[in-house]
Amino acid sequence: MSQDTEKKVAAEAAALLVEDGMRVGLGTGSTVAFLLPAIAARKLDIRCVATSVQTEEAARALGLTVENAAEVDRLDLAIDGADQIAPDFWLVKGGGAAHTREKIVAAMADRFIVIADSSKLVPRLHAPIPLELLQFGLQSTLRLLQSVTLRDVPPSPDGNVIADYSGAIGGPDALEAWLSSVPGVVAHGLFQPALVAEVIVGRGKKAESLKRAF
Ligand code: 5RP
Repeated sequence: MSQDTEKKVAAEAAALLVEDGMRVGLGTGSTVAFLLPAIAARKLDIRCVATSVQTEEAARALGLTVENAAEVDRLDLAIDGADQIAPDFWLVKGGGAAHTREKIVAAMADRFIVIADSSKLVPRLHAPIPLELLQFGLQSTLRLLQSVTLRDVPPSPDGNVIADYSGAIGGPDALEAWLSSVPGVVAHGLFQPALVAEVIVGRGKKAESLKRAF
C-alpha cells in the first residue's frame, strides 16, 4: 500500500475527532495536506491555529478560519505528522522545518494527535534531529553542538537557522535535556511522550489508533 494512501487514511480518521466549536491546531507536511480538506469537508464551526505559512494558506483557501497564534491561549486539539515515532511515543519532528511552532501548538492543545503512515514507526529514534538555531552567536552554537549540519533551506518564519543534529542519540531524555541546555538552540525536534495523546497510523487501508500506556 502506498505511503500516500496510509497518510490519507490516518488524516481522515483524525479529522473525525474534530467537533463543532473546537479550537484546532493544524500541523505541517504531506500528511497534514490530507487532513486539511478532510476537516474542511465537515463544514464545522471551528477556529484554527496553523504551524506554518504553507498550512495557514492552504487552510484559508479551503475556507477554514485561522487565528493569530499569539492571541490563543489554549486549543482543544492539535493534529500533526511526525518523521519518527518510537514505541514509547518519543517523536522526531521537523523534517519540514516547522518543529518550533509545531511544539508550541502541540503544547497549547488539550490533546495532541499524531498522524502518520506506517513507515514512521521506528524501533528507536535515529539521527538527524532537526534544530532551529538563533542567528546570533551561530558559530559558537555550532561549536558547542559539534555534530550539526546546516540545512540548505530558507530561515524559519521567525528568522532562525534550520539545522540537523547528527550525533549519537543514546537516551532521548538525556539528549533532549542537553539540546535544550545549549544557548542558541531555539528548539529541537524531539517531542516528549507526555505531549502525545494518541497516534493514528495508516496501515494499508485502515487507520489504527495507538495510545500511550500511562
Ligand atoms: C514538519 C514536520 C512534519 O510533521 C514531519 O516532517 C512529517 O511530514 P510528512 O507528513 O510530510 O511525512 O514535522 O516540520
